[in-house]
Amino acid sequence: MLYDTKQMALFEGGNPEYEYKELINKRHNFPDAVEMLSKIDYDFKDFTTQYLTHTFHSYPARFIPQIPLTFIKLFTEEQEIVLDPFCGCGTTLVESFLNNRKSIGNDFNPLATLISKVKTTLIEDTQFRYFNRKLAVMKRYLDLDYRRVNEKINNLPNRKISAIFSKTVISKLEAIRETLLEVKEEGYDELFDFGRVALSSTIWSLVENDGGIDVDDLFVKKVKSMEKELSKTAKIVEKNPEVRVICGDARKLEVQSDSIDLVVTSPPYVNALDYYRVHMYNMLWLGMDFDLFRKHEIGGHSHFITNRFRLLSEYLGDMLRSMIEMNRVLKKDKLCVIVVGNSSVEYELIESHIFFEEMGDKIGFTPIKTIFRNIDKTKKYTSADVGKIDEEYIVVMRKEKNSDVVANDDDFVSEVVRNQMIRFREQIKNVQGTSIRGRKPTRERLLKNIDKISEAIETIPKDTKIKR
Ligand SMILES: C[S@@+](CC[C@H](N)C(=O)[O-])C[C@H]1O[C@@H](n2cnc3c(N)ncnc32)[C@H](O)[C@@H]1O
Repeated sequence: MLYDTKQMALFEGGNPEYEYKELINKRHNFPDAVEMLSKIDYDFKDFTTQYLTHTFHSYPARFIPQIPLTFIKLFTEEQEIVLDPFCGCGTTLVESFLNNRKSIGNDFNPLATLISKVKTTLIEDTQFRYFNRKLAVMKRYLDLDYRRVNEKINNLPNRKISAIFSKTVISKLEAIRETLLEVKEEGYDELFDFGRVALSSTIWSLVENDGGIDVDDLFVKKVKSMEKELSKTAKIVEKNPEVRVICGDARKLEVQSDSIDLVVTSPPYVNALDYYRVHMYNMLWLGMDFDLFRKHEIGGHSHFITNRFRLLSEYLGDMLRSMIEMNRVLKKDKLCVIVVGNSSVEYELIESHIFFEEMGDKIGFTPIKTIFRNIDKTKKYTSADVGKIDEEYIVVMRKEKNSDVVANDDDFVSEVVRNQMIRFREQIKNVQGTSIRGRKPTRERLLKNIDKISEAIETIPKDTKIKR
């Protein structure tokens, strides 16, 4: 259903992508669906991953659509509710939308929630005709507009951004922003958001490829391609299922208890990426305040510089709270699917999926299975601290009962993390770890790491507290 006839023809005759679609499209009861999980090749090698609104905006470490799609199709019915508490650019929401499932996406990053919303909001053709007229007028007056460039620089939402672009680029980006503000004033809120995603994507391309790009052409091309993908989406989505996007904290979800039919998500990794940094310029230009997000971002690594293992205990505490929330909102017997790769701290391998499995066991989940997958060579995600992340795990758990504890139970969180850190310290003493870069810590570093973990264990009650 997601492909046109020409693409479909390519898949026929033993094509793995076609066979995969056939498999997940059959109706299954729960045991059969679990059985089906072992028939899928999760490497999804050479599968089409960029289609329809997935193409709107880049986003770091997003997961490929086939991961949420598999669980949505095998474990939910139409109109049931799928939740992604770390929804990023909305991959889970788009797949739910395309398959007539209601969905809720939560993320603390305001750019992520904007992109997610826009990818799942259909806009009528009449509105696009109005928007294209508006852009044509804007383009006609761009040169004239340049005369106001100094005034524009003074009016920028944040002066820091004036330093990275030339005056011509600033003048054009500002003309686009002002046009979008007019669109909003004229009552087209959905187009305003749509345009802001196109603008953000344009700024991202400018940051990535300096020089030689015609800003207004790039923006208009982006708008046209997004419009095309959205109208293709409108033809596929039969019942326009409800999508709710929340800009909030996964450790305190604004979602009703026992209301969700499937959780599928990929949380941040420990010590890997500061999300707020990646899209800083786009966010500044859109006037988004990322300070709150920076403060509450899970997995960030701009602090605890002298003892990185404190990042690990902080991360484990945050993830435990988030998992307690996932348990709270899920209906009994429904699945919680968490996708995560290995990470490393001070050259010690962090197998996050093992920590998550242990946590699940303490808060009312039963394990169904953990699936290993290789990440496609071209889609490997690299982080300066962790190196190349080229494999990940899909942890599949089922809610057996309500958790006995709530997410803000500091004593419980601190106790679980303490036990996990002690187990981790013992493990690295016995089996010397290796980072994803393939380098083993030296004996000297190992001893130092053991001391640092012991130090980090002491500060767990403080480090796992949510910052206010
Ligand atoms: C691995 S990404 C998710 C990518 C997503 N699966 C996709 O396909 O786009 C992890 C996300 O967690 C978000 N995040 C970090 N801390 C958070 C918090 N405290 N509450 C909610 N979301 C948070 C980040 O903004 C980021 O979007």
